[in-house]
Amino acid sequence: MSISTSSEPPTAKRLEGKVAIITGGASGFGESSARLFVRHGAKVVIADVQDELGLSLCRELGENDDVSYFHCDVTSDSDVKRLVDYAVSKHGKLDIMYNNAGITGDIDPTILGSDNDNFKRVFEVNVFGGFLGAKHAARVMIPARKGVILFMSSVASESCGESPHAYTASKHAVVGLMKNLCVELGQYGIRVNSISPGAVATPMLRNAIGMEKSVIDGLIRAAAVLKGPTPGPEDVAEAAVFLASDEARFVNGLNLMVDGGYSTTNPSFGLALRSLMTQNNSLSI
Ligand SMILES: NC(=O)c1ccc[n+]([C@@H]2O[C@H](COP(=O)([O-])OP(=O)(O)OC[C@H]3O[C@@H](n4cnc5c(N)ncnc54)[C@H](O)[C@@H]3O)[C@@H](O)[C@H]2O)c1
Repeated sequence: MSISTSSEPPTAKRLEGKVAIITGGASGFGESSARLFVRHGAKVVIADVQDELGLSLCRELGENDDVSYFHCDVTSDSDVKRLVDYAVSKHGKLDIMYNNAGITGDIDPTILGSDNDNFKRVFEVNVFGGFLGAKHAARVMIPARKGVILFMSSVASESCGESPHAYTASKHAVVGLMKNLCVELGQYGIRVNSISPGAVATPMLRNAIGMEKSVIDGLIRAAAVLKGPTPGPEDVAEAAVFLASDEARFVNGLNLMVDGGYSTTNPSFGLALRSLMTQNNSLSI
């Protein structure tokens, strides 16, 4: 099935002239968003700690000076400050701050097996990193009296029990931060929203569960509520373009689920019932 995220140019450039920073922009959702933002006419600063990946993406996308790479550890206040200052000095303004960088941390799902330092590290990247991004973006957006701040949350902000405690808690915290900022920054015309994707076989998920993309895609399709296309990073990028664009000019404080309806349901009872019925049928044969 083909969607408008193919390599064809979009019919309308929905981010024409806008300046965007995408953290974690070298890989996965961030990379896909960088590609789509550029196709929609945005000037993009890709911020990441994976310099080689970021630079090669930049070379691929940046036929002109509209795409650049900036090394930035989102947990460092001085890095994030320099990142925002760089975007403003290069392009004259900052319209979109997309706090996408994140990590899963250790995948032990138990409270007794959870490592304390890992818990702090997951919060440092996923929550404090986003906080710093929002803080430095607000520093330049408040005087401009406009701007869009996007956060990357997760389906784990709605459906619990499938991710490690640190990850789930951090993604809930991101939504809380997003909503609080939405209230504070609304008076300056700054919109603040988050995106919550379901599982997608990006490098993060592949590394976390140590399986091939094709196997993970099969699992995702089997568990999906919405049958049909296998979700990809481009589906999440489309949501980011919408929220970042003027088409969403009155959308504020929204945690947009991009999970094909997965978080609306809990199939546990149905699965237990089906398993009991299968057991009973096999006993009666
Ligand atoms: N893949 C999924 O199934 C899924 C689902 C829901 C939400 N998410 C979220 O999407 C976001 C992007 O993840 P992804 O799946 O594209 O993974 P990814 O690993 O492909 O990309 C994440 C990027 O963030 C960068 N990064 C990590 N720590 C950083 C730091 N301290 N400073 C700067 N950059 C840093 C990494 O180098 C990487 O390029 C994360 O916030 C993740 O929690 C992922």
